[in-house]
Amino acid sequence: MARLTVADLLRRKSQGEKITMLTAYDYPFATLLDEAGVDVVLVGDSLGMVVLGYETTTPVTMEEMLHHAKAARRGVSRALLVGDMPFLSFHGTTADAVRSAARFVQEAGCDAVKVEWKQGIEDVAKAIVDAGIPVMGHVGLTPQTAVAEGGFGIRGKDVESALRIIGQAIALQEVGCFAMVLECVPDLVAKEITQRLRIPTIGIGSGPWCDGQVLVTYDLLGLYERFTPRFVKRYAQMGETVRHAVRAYIQEVKSAGFPGPAHTVGMSPEEAARLNAELGNR
Ligand code: KIV
Repeated sequence: MARLTVADLLRRKSQGEKITMLTAYDYPFATLLDEAGVDVVLVGDSLGMVVLGYETTTPVTMEEMLHHAKAARRGVSRALLVGDMPFLSFHGTTADAVRSAARFVQEAGCDAVKVEWKQGIEDVAKAIVDAGIPVMGHVGLTPQTAVAEGGFGIRGKDVESALRIIGQAIALQEVGCFAMVLECVPDLVAKEITQRLRIPTIGIGSGPWCDGQVLVTYDLLGLYERFTPRFVKRYAQMGETVRHAVRAYIQEVKSAGFPGPAHTVGMSPEEAARLNAELGNR
């Protein structure tokens, strides 16, 4: 099946067909998501929390992101693969930001990068787009700067902040972003942005009006149990499934139930007899 492109996502918006995006950080999950038919696989910096065990996403480095993006690339053959630019990877000079974005494409094989909103991001996003790298914007709750901005709550609840977020989304579209993540904004704000933008919006905790939806896969599957945001729907309880399987394994090893004949390699009776005879002679 043909690889999805940025143009395909834009077509989805014009045809009113919803876009699906999920996160993956390794080969097995990237393969499973791709085979299941998700449109966009995001190697999110949520990696830091759900896989690396950090408290927030800010400690995640470029090297960690690239290591995981390379693994995800090997599993994705149909979806668009987007690498999330981690904290500080686009905060120095514009040239540094373009170099970081280029590493996602050249070293990890990503199709595009995502940048969270920060002051002055328009110039950075434009430079990356001008370098020929598709850029996805991210406005609303931006986890990399959430602590500095007063926490992880909903953004855009009052008119002033709603207008600010609408302006940010439009500004990022105007410098060439091909899609926009809207994180934790009220449904009406998301609806307004979705109607105003030519490019698709992809919501997380932002209601049903967006052109697509994204979740952190480990949340959706019940694999990250430290906390579950209110907007997450758990489609499976894999944490429980894993615990159940591991307890069964421990119990069977202790009771000599595993490995049984089906999981054991035997010798032919002739070779076993010859080996015994040989050992008896020593
Ligand atoms: O890092 C991430 O997983 C994200 C998504 C939640 C959009 O940025």
